[in-house]
Amino acid sequence: MNFEYAAAPESRSVVKIDPVYGHFINGKWVNGSSHFNSINPATEEVLSQIALGTAADVDAAVKAARNAFDKSWSKLSGRERGKYLYRIARIMQERAREFAVLETLDNGKPIRESRDVDVPLSAAHFFYHAGWADKLEYAGVDTTTAPHGVVGQIIPWNFPLLMLAWKVAPALATGNTVVLKPAETTSLTALLFAQVCQQAGLPDGVVNIVTGDGSTGSAIVNHPGIDKIAFTGSTEVGKLIARALAPTNKSLTLELGGKGANIVFGDAAIDETVEGIVNGIFFNQGHVCCAGSRLILQESIADEVLEKLKRRMDKIRVGDPLDKNTDLGAINSAEQLAKIRELTAAGEAEGAGRWSANCELPTNGFWFAPTIFTGVTQAHRIAREEIFGPVLSVLTFRTPAEAIEKANNTPFGLSAGIWSEKGSNILWATQQLRAGVIWANTFNKFDPASPFGGYKESGWGREGGRHGLSAYLKGSAK
Ligand code: NAI
Ligand code: MG
Repeated sequence: MNFEYAAAPESRSVVKIDPVYGHFINGKWVNGSSHFNSINPATEEVLSQIALGTAADVDAAVKAARNAFDKSWSKLSGRERGKYLYRIARIMQERAREFAVLETLDNGKPIRESRDVDVPLSAAHFFYHAGWADKLEYAGVDTTTAPHGVVGQIIPWNFPLLMLAWKVAPALATGNTVVLKPAETTSLTALLFAQVCQQAGLPDGVVNIVTGDGSTGSAIVNHPGIDKIAFTGSTEVGKLIARALAPTNKSLTLELGGKGANIVFGDAAIDETVEGIVNGIFFNQGHVCCAGSRLILQESIADEVLEKLKRRMDKIRVGDPLDKNTDLGAINSAEQLAKIRELTAAGEAEGAGRWSANCELPTNGFWFAPTIFTGVTQAHRIAREEIFGPVLSVLTFRTPAEAIEKANNTPFGLSAGIWSEKGSNILWATQQLRAGVIWANTFNKFDPASPFGGYKESGWGREGGRHGLSAYLKGSAK
């Protein structure tokens, strides 16, 4: 018998999207001078018009943030700051469905993920940091230090609300004020968050949101009134920012790209591992900096794992992100789709074997079928470069030492996974791997209490946990 799924679309009536948005500066909405479209990548429907922030808009936001820092925010006790953070967290929970539907519309990710991962984790980040605001002296950070002052924060499009939460919650908990720029394709949940700040009665100017593109981001980075920059995005832009800040006194944290190794030892529990591999690379369409994008399989079990993996991939439901049954949504933009196509074409041209799941892709919007490449060597571009899409490169190994060598053979060092039944194997491998986050017999697990960040070209500093707090205090960390 063959059971078919009936369509189960989430209603979008819960969200109200304005036709045009301005910037959120000093607690008020300020009109933009020019605008660009934000579209739904699953349909190419224009959702709204977003203001392109200019240097003057950034300047107004930095002044508002400075004023708020001097006059209100830095004067509050940690306990008072914490109250605002708790309030924000609770409002996010109350408006969770609105946030989830809006995120899915603007980003293309499945509602199952925005509803069950992005939004609850965002609220959790605010709750977690609300708790720290009046307990910083117990956090193990240097409490003789002060907040930086005005922090510029630039975030990407893969987890729009969650990256905002990762940035804004620790900044406010430690007493900084913020000028944040969302990514150009996914500004809408940041603009809804601005409404939450108003609803929470947050003092004017503590959080300012300026929308725009790379030029707006660059104006934030280079503004002399900014004390610290926190950036998440591509390694290429991260390097530009590091260069721009090198001759200044500004502090900097960077969360950049990755090419995570997911290592499967011969003794791993195969069925669980297959689920973990799927979660590692197909979660959020593979638009994940810590994705397990290189599968490193012990030769003895490679055939069995690949056969089961392909069977599982044929069951991945690709399509309408608002459908509650959907596993894999739309690629975030035409540009990202072009990049995925370019790299997968290079994989074929360089001789790797391509296999894609048998699924029907919608005609409108940006889509890419879940794909794996076998016979990948370390020299192939698809083994070295971040594809940032639902594409897995498979390599094999014979000895554990070979697995580690291959896993570490990358300019990145953000994440890794190990699948093995043997604790000693896991402990040994974690000591050899150069990755900021290592999961054992699981993948893509996140918690606000756990620091996150990378080695090498994956970035500087840590976000989350006690380590993440110190990045927002002067002198505690660069
Ligand atoms: P991007 O790094 O250009 O964009 C990230 C953010 O930086 C956006 O808000 C953007 O407006 C801003 N930005 C761009 N240029 C800037 C500049 N010169 N100064 C300051 N801010 C600037 O990333 P993009 O172009 O969207 O994606 C390109 C590739 O980067 C992806 O294919 C993926 O491989 C990687 N990427 C990695 C992310 C991660 O979380 N590790 C997130 C986004 C992209
Ligand atoms: Mg969009």
